[in-house]
Amino acid sequence: MFTAMGGLPVVAIGPYKLANSVLLAPMAGITDLPFRHLAWRLGAGLVYGEMTVARPDLWHTRKSIERRTLDRRIQPAAVQIAGAEPKWLADAAQRHADDGAQIIDINMGCPAKKVCDKAAGSALLRDEGLVRSILEAVVKAVDVPVTLKIRTGWCPNTKNAVTIARIAEASGVSALTVHGRTRACRFKGCAEYQTVSEVVTSVAIPVIVNGDIGDVDKAKSVVERTGAAGVMIGRSALGAPWLPGQIARGLAGAVPRELDFAERILIMREHLDAMHRFYGVERGVKIARKHMQWYLQGLQLDAQRIRLFNRLDNPELQQRFLGELNPTLDKAA
Ligand SMILES: Cc1cc2nc3c(=O)[nH]c(=O)nc-3n(C[C@H](O)[C@H](O)[C@H](O)COP(=O)(O)O)c2cc1C
Repeated sequence: MFTAMGGLPVVAIGPYKLANSVLLAPMAGITDLPFRHLAWRLGAGLVYGEMTVARPDLWHTRKSIERRTLDRRIQPAAVQIAGAEPKWLADAAQRHADDGAQIIDINMGCPAKKVCDKAAGSALLRDEGLVRSILEAVVKAVDVPVTLKIRTGWCPNTKNAVTIARIAEASGVSALTVHGRTRACRFKGCAEYQTVSEVVTSVAIPVIVNGDIGDVDKAKSVVERTGAAGVMIGRSALGAPWLPGQIARGLAGAVPRELDFAERILIMREHLDAMHRFYGVERGVKIARKHMQWYLQGLQLDAQRIRLFNRLDNPELQQRFLGELNPTLDKAA
């Protein structure tokens, strides 16, 4: 699975050969354009956008429009759609492709209530016939490669990831990501990788393993255990958009290096500026608080200082706060 050079072989999704095999997970409310651009610039092999709901009446909401916005600097542009109606998903995929998306992912992995209430996301895993209809409809609707993201099954007693993977391959899906938990497990317990390795041996398309991978050693051991073509990083990248790139370099044999205080502050300021520009001042300031809190925790700032940041209500004050952080007083992790 590792090449003689120590890295993973190149993952190809349709015509796209990824720069490396470490992918940023789609995360609603997190992997917006500012975050994706940073993760991409800092070395992630592929960055997926937040899921967009396929329902046509939700297509023109501000949220949907923001989530569908692409940045030409990020190539290939990978988006994710969620829904349960094959025609809606096919139409949504087509619209994304018309807007410039180069890879369309289908979300059958998200346990979020809002998605599952509409019997979408991982709720679909229970209905294999519907999964087939959706995949066939979407693959047929677009010329760009379609990928699929699933969990290992609906619940621990009904792990049907292998069946779903075979359906996906037969339907023309180009790559598959498997999160090593069932839908019922939500985010509890630890991800298990045995089912992922069974999926890997059952299909010929690239399989990406996801769940609880947060450093190079874990990525290496999970790839060794599963034979997966790549890894996908989710929550560990919160407040650490450099992590997928760092893991990719580690898998390729580089000695892992922690970013120092000054490097982190530079990235935080770039992220802050990008959020202010993307969302506008009022929303940008609020959305920035969520991300900055994770970065500041990573710098081991105490809760009181973080609360101070959260009270700042304009972009200049937020930038100044970061600019005035001091590596000796505000000790880095
Ligand atoms: C805040 C949040 C939002 C998420 N949104 C999505 C989503 O939009 N689409 C999706 O397929 N998975 C979504 N997920 C699941 C992640 O992509 C990933 O599968 C999961 O977090 C497990 O990986 P991790 O252990 O590396 O975090 C989300 C997870 C989190 C924590």
